[in-house]
Amino acid sequence: MDVLVTGGTGRLGQRLIGPLQAAGHSVKQMSRRGTGPGGVRGDLATGRDLGSAVAGAEVIVHAASDPRGDPWQVDVAGTRRLVEAVDRDRLRHLVYVSIVGVDRIPYGYYRAKFAAEQVLLASGLPVTLLRVTQFHDFVDLLLDTARRGPVLPVPMGWRVQPVDVGDVAEHIGTVIAAPPAGDVVEYGGPEELSAADLARSWVAARSPGTHVVATPVPGKLGAAFRDGAACPTGGARGRRTYAEHLRRPAH
Ligand SMILES: NC(=O)c1ccc[n+]([C@@H]2O[C@H](COP(=O)([O-])OP(=O)(O)OC[C@H]3O[C@@H](n4cnc5c(N)ncnc54)[C@H](OP(=O)(O)O)[C@@H]3O)[C@@H](O)[C@H]2O)c1
Repeated sequence: MDVLVTGGTGRLGQRLIGPLQAAGHSVKQMSRRGTGPGGVRGDLATGRDLGSAVAGAEVIVHAASDPRGDPWQVDVAGTRRLVEAVDRDRLRHLVYVSIVGVDRIPYGYYRAKFAAEQVLLASGLPVTLLRVTQFHDFVDLLLDTARRGPVLPVPMGWRVQPVDVGDVAEHIGTVIAAPPAGDVVEYGGPEELSAADLARSWVAARSPGTHVVATPVPGKLGAAFRDGAACPTGGARGRRTYAEHLRRPAH
């Protein structure tokens, strides 16, 4: 099938191209710069080049996002632009990569992801809203960024279930081959862990000598993570654990 991956230069997008091509699909991947194998230009924030990027797509894996910029412009309005640009006669399946807990965790970026889901549900397109937990590589980045000299503060009691991005890419290959769910489907890692447990594993592998300090996070956001709102309640599970991920050299 003719597959378009939006966010093809991203953490997940880069890992999707190989498996999709190996499964026999013809893959184009879109980003603002249009770099990389099968790369085409398309900007969700402005709509520039979007029509030509989307033309001919039978399957779209929508994995573009702008968490650090303006997610309301890129994720929400951009998803609306994408919906308007698709060839409805040709499109068989659009898989939107969302995040477990976007409906339960009061956090601005998650609200934008949830709003983008609503745009897709209202679009009448054949969609699957695939809510995924945090990628292992992203957890590494968060922990590395949170470290303050010899101390690594982590939120006390937060429950998470991170997943390997390679497992997510493989799973998306299965999802696109199945009929559209027309609804939310969850996908997470193999084990639920506390943020402090994750941090201790990361410290042992990547930053020996650093002290993990569990710190209370007041408010509704902290309560939601403590209540397990970021952990999936259903759906399939990835195989690779965070400990296995850490056994590979950091890149
Ligand atoms: N990271 C996680 O732990 C995690 C967990 C669960 C779900 N997700 C979801 O999975 C998806 C992929 O996450 P990721 O971590 O792989 O993202 P990422 O590494 O931040 O990559 C974002 C991608 O979006 C593209 N992009 C940004 N602004 C754009 C625009 N205006 N027009 C077109 N493309 C644009 C970027 O391309 P250029 O900058 O090259 O244009 C890049 O390819 C996201 O929707 C995210 O919410 C992520």
